[in-house]
Amino acid sequence: MSAAAPEKHVSPRGCLKSRRSKLLASLVVFIVILAAVIPPVVVTSLRKKHNNSMGPKSKVFVPLYVYPAPGAWSPLEDVYVSPFPFSPERTPPDPPSRFSKPNLIPSTRISTHPDVNFTVVINPGNGPGPNSLPDANYTREIPKLSAYSNVRLLGYVHTTYAQRNISLVRKDIETYAAWPKQSSNQSLAVRGIFFDETPQAYSSHSLTYLQNLTDLVKGLDGLGSEPFVVHNPGAIPDSRYLDTADSTVVFEETYSTFQERNGAKLFTAIPDSNRTQLCAVIHSVPDSVEGSDLRGFVKEVRKVADEVFITHLSTDYYASFGTKWAEFVDLMAA
Ligand SMILES: *[C@@H]1O[C@H](CO)[C@@H](O)[C@H](O)[C@H]1NC(C)=O
Ligand SMILES: *[C@@H]1O[C@H](CO)[C@@H](O)[C@H](O)[C@H]1NC(C)=O
Ligand SMILES: *[C@@H]1O[C@H](CO)[C@@H](O)[C@H](O)[C@H]1NC(C)=O
Ligand SMILES: *[C@@H]1O[C@H](CO)[C@@H](O)[C@H](O)[C@H]1NC(C)=O
Ligand SMILES: *[C@@H]1O[C@H](CO)[C@@H](O)[C@H](O)[C@H]1NC(C)=O
Ligand SMILES: *[C@@H]1O[C@H](CO)[C@@H](O)[C@H](O)[C@H]1NC(C)=O
Repeated sequence: MSAAAPEKHVSPRGCLKSRRSKLLASLVVFIVILAAVIPPVVVTSLRKKHNNSMGPKSKVFVPLYVYPAPGAWSPLEDVYVSPFPFSPERTPPDPPSRFSKPNLIPSTRISTHPDVNFTVVINPGNGPGPNSLPDANYTREIPKLSAYSNVRLLGYVHTTYAQRNISLVRKDIETYAAWPKQSSNQSLAVRGIFFDETPQAYSSHSLTYLQNLTDLVKGLDGLGSEPFVVHNPGAIPDSRYLDTADSTVVFEETYSTFQERNGAKLFTAIPDSNRTQLCAVIHSVPDSVEGSDLRGFVKEVRKVADEVFITHLSTDYYASFGTKWAEFVDLMAA
């Protein structure tokens, strides 16, 4: 978009001599001046509307390890998107004042935000919990989230690196699958399983173990029409495991570790994989990474992973929402 480009194009041919070309040249100059004087914010919003400069869309991946005390899950449901993506300090207003802030669009809650899909992991008690149904806070809040067509809920189960008694893992999965029946409420349901602590190094025992669990998930009633399986080795596992899951968390580390490991290059080097199978979880993003820096970062991660979670929190990063949560979701919607 530099002013030099049009000159280069015009002058070598000596076109400035003809009257038509003079007109053309004035037009080019006019456009260059226009481009210089239009406030950047207008250009930004035009660009947002007319081309998807953020690259491929990814899903917002949320390890929602937040206890659903009344209101605790609201930051997930009440995501507001500003028309000007980089205006500073946009905190969601309380409902009564929502129309008083002109730079906030109140209609972009998760509920009416079809542009972004959310994959949300819930974890009532290091798994589904000891009982056939989770407590009343969960049974109140889960149906609210599962009602949104752009939200896919997954139940948390740990495997202790494929060493946990597989019968117990299977029992956890079956407990989740039985929720709708147990509660007589079709909305009290998850649509897949998030397997935490899956192995990185290959063994035939582990592969058989993981395949056994995936077969169970895919075959059970009560986990939706297309049960989804996510593995979390937390790092790049042996590639033979990748096909036993729909998505694999190949990175669960800090922002600085992401940078040290060459960022996106780490992902493109994973053998036999492509972005549709990969999930990236990046926490401890410095507060200074905001605005266009955050935009560039989200774009880089979207390019390599279909499921993305980015938080500025550096402790208990799955237990609450960071201050830039709304900005992150804006960028995922862009
Ligand atoms: C729901 O959460 C609130 C707030 O943490 C708590 O006081 C209440 O006991 C919980 N209800 C149940 C049924 O556990
Ligand atoms: C969101 O999910 C819907 C339904 O599963 C799907 O049709 C759509 O392509 C998804 N969009 C994105 C951006 O992933
Ligand atoms: C399911 O549970 C939720 C939360 O308690 C409730 O709002 C909804 O009406 C229930 N649906 C059915 C079909 O019972
Ligand atoms: C695994 O758990 C099942 C069910 O509790 C139990 O019967 C079995 O003995 C356990 N297996 C091992 C190896 O501990
Ligand atoms: C999966 O594991 C269970 C529990 O060990 C076992 O009973 C079952 O036969 C296994 N299924 C397959 C297909 O290997
Ligand atoms: C990417 O992976 C998905 C799921 O395994 C597969 O369906 C798709 O064909 C792959 N795409 C490419 C370009 O390899």
